[in-house]
Amino acid sequence: TPKGSCLESVKIAIDTGYRHIDGAFVYYNEHEVGQAIREKIAEGKVKREDIFYCGKLWNTCHPPELVRPTLEKTLKILQLDYVDLYIIELPMAFKPGDAIYPKDENGKFIYHETDLCATWEAMEACKDAGLAKSIGVSNFNRRQLEMILNKPGLKYKPVSNQVECHPYFTQPKLLEFCRQHDIVIVGYSPLGTSRDESWVNVSSPPLLKDPVLNAIGKKYNKTAAQVALRFSIQRGVVVIPKSFNPQRIRENFQIFDFSLTEKEMKEIEALNKNVRYVELLM
Ligand code: A2P
Repeated sequence: TPKGSCLESVKIAIDTGYRHIDGAFVYYNEHEVGQAIREKIAEGKVKREDIFYCGKLWNTCHPPELVRPTLEKTLKILQLDYVDLYIIELPMAFKPGDAIYPKDENGKFIYHETDLCATWEAMEACKDAGLAKSIGVSNFNRRQLEMILNKPGLKYKPVSNQVECHPYFTQPKLLEFCRQHDIVIVGYSPLGTSRDESWVNVSSPPLLKDPVLNAIGKKYNKTAAQVALRFSIQRGVVVIPKSFNPQRIRENFQIFDFSLTEKEMKEIEALNKNVRYVELLM
């Protein structure tokens, strides 16, 4: 993000009423997020315990001995004492080192053999040390979740699984599995992403242009974005919409003053195309 834009956006978001902030070391703006949170605390706008910050363990840091130092580095960047949630960002590991995307001379990713269960145990130790209030995962499928859930001696279950989730990718089976195991689904790209071709599959049509979402929005005097967000929260999916535009940051918060009927929820569910915008081909 351009220097300072994240700082401003997070401050506007907190003023608007947002409390859940989703970040990661690999977004390279955690210093600005931390500064925004600390400024709002200093102003007396919020207390630290009002804020819910989620940080993420990157692929190059899966070896168990790297987990705590990596979280400590994030806390140092944020200048906070703890994160509310720390999650394994992806279930696949890359070679540890300074390169975030380590590649060989043929441009192929260099993976690293690690045991997700051992990584999880190191995550549990971070919770025990008070560095993370809760721990979870991201981009895990059912089998990967089961590996953790069935781990002998499991101390803490993942509280959440952050995955792509929106009207065009509704994740019905994973949602049901997570419901059964008390794992909250946090839906990323709830508005259908920024359609940046460097990481988005743009062959799937733009979500916010969808006629059904727009028609339903018209009825409630809401935008397609607000209908998409409302749909997700109404089916129990936590949403983390991204915007750096003050007007849209506020717009995305105005979703608690209307509700969709059962028929409308079904209509939106039927939009599912089972196609990801974020394919994560690595
Ligand atoms: P901007 O930052 O200019 O607002 P997602 O949350 O699914 O990743 O989507 C993020 C993209 O959607 C960003 O490009 C963001 O652009 C845009 N966006 C965010 N809120 C809205 C909105 N209410 N209406 C239209 N586009 C939006």
